[in-house]
Amino acid sequence: MSKLAKLNLGETEIELPVMEGTEGEKAIDISKLRAETKFVTFDNGLGNTGACTSSITFIDGEKGILKHRGYTIENLCDKSSFLETSYLLFHGHFPTANELSDLKAQIKEKSKIPDGIKSLIKSFPQDAHPMGITSAAVVALSGYYPHLLDQDLSVDKKNEIFPLMLGQLKAITAGVYRHGQGKDMIDSDLSLDYTADFLYLMNGEKPNEEVAKSLDVLLLLHADHEQNCSTSTVRVVGSSKANLFASVSSGIDALWGPLHGGANQAVLEMLEAIKNDGGGYEKFILKAKDKEDPFKLMGFGHRVYKNFDPRAKVIKGYCDTILEKLNVQDPLLDIANGLEATALSDEYFASRKLFPNVDFYSGIIYKALGIPTNMFTVMFALGRQPGWIAQWKEMSETKGIKITRPRQIYLGKTDEKL
Ligand code: CMC
Repeated sequence: MSKLAKLNLGETEIELPVMEGTEGEKAIDISKLRAETKFVTFDNGLGNTGACTSSITFIDGEKGILKHRGYTIENLCDKSSFLETSYLLFHGHFPTANELSDLKAQIKEKSKIPDGIKSLIKSFPQDAHPMGITSAAVVALSGYYPHLLDQDLSVDKKNEIFPLMLGQLKAITAGVYRHGQGKDMIDSDLSLDYTADFLYLMNGEKPNEEVAKSLDVLLLLHADHEQNCSTSTVRVVGSSKANLFASVSSGIDALWGPLHGGANQAVLEMLEAIKNDGGGYEKFILKAKDKEDPFKLMGFGHRVYKNFDPRAKVIKGYCDTILEKLNVQDPLLDIANGLEATALSDEYFASRKLFPNVDFYSGIIYKALGIPTNMFTVMFALGRQPGWIAQWKEMSETKGIKITRPRQIYLGKTDEKL
């Protein structure tokens, strides 16, 4: 028999089932709360609400642990590739050599974007933000694959849409970049692996192996992060039985905001502003601490991590190595290091458990790789895509999923008359 939690609401007392996850997290199942008591819960930002069950990703924010399907992120970064981890997220098990080569072959087959999508990308102003173009291109794919618009897709169709999305978003992202540079889009180099081909599609030349490997790790680090804002958006849109193209496109839109994926662009802009201001970051720390000032230290803080973001640790290690390998000396790295050290020893940040997050150092790496600032969040989207697809698939396969439709506490006028 499952455990019960007692909730005393004055005149009414109710018993609510307690749920427990495989890593020990506990939840109170309030599904019957309103029907039995007329009460609803109120949870600003949903920080205390489990909106689904999932077997994909686990985070222990207090300990700084991130695992996908039971594997730690450090282990995956060390021993696997972006595509292997994507396969793991989607299928639930690590690919065999045959499964991996099959996936690679299918992605290669599906990496050419339809001419209409190319025209759509080109129809945007050259200086349009790449996130808007990418989101529009992804939802426009729905027009080219009408047989993939159901949510209850057959196994065959699910196995078709996964490599299709990976191949298409790689080509769309690179195409959006080339459009911004005023260059024509080019086709894949089929001899290259996923991330190397992506760099080829952007730059028109075979990339340095080390650079491709580093970018592959960066994509892997972003592959999934349980119920963050964009993934929750994918699930909310998908809960109405919307198709995958619409759901992922909405996820891209949610990612764009500077409190979420857009933070990587905002971090670099903040570091540039500090540099242009003479390099003294103390003034910016004071601004971030000032309650009257809306400025926040971008790349710092996280809803779930109250300890180091494990992804930030990996990225920080990579940042030094990549800059050294590419022989890039970026003064922004010194500013970032100084800013981090000062913030970590400051009582304001320490007492609020604010640590650098995944976005703090990623921009410096993208910049060293020659990727323009306004493309950073699109890079995040390319990395996050397998997570969105895996979460959408898991939702579509879970029995009893209901359309997401929260309640509210009405605070408006009552009984007005004309
Ligand atoms: N700079 C200064 N103060 C901060 C910051 C920051 N970056 N982040 C949080 N705080 C303060 C906040 O003002 C609040 O102070 P007080 O208790 O005095 O009111 C306290 O810390 C708790 O913060 P919160 O706003 O309740 O935290 P949250 O869980 O609602 O927000 C966050 C999380 C990530 C939106 C926020 O930390 C933030 O805006 N960070 C900067 C943007 C950023 O780097 N976003 C990327 C997140 S990680 C990758 C991703 O999700 O894409």
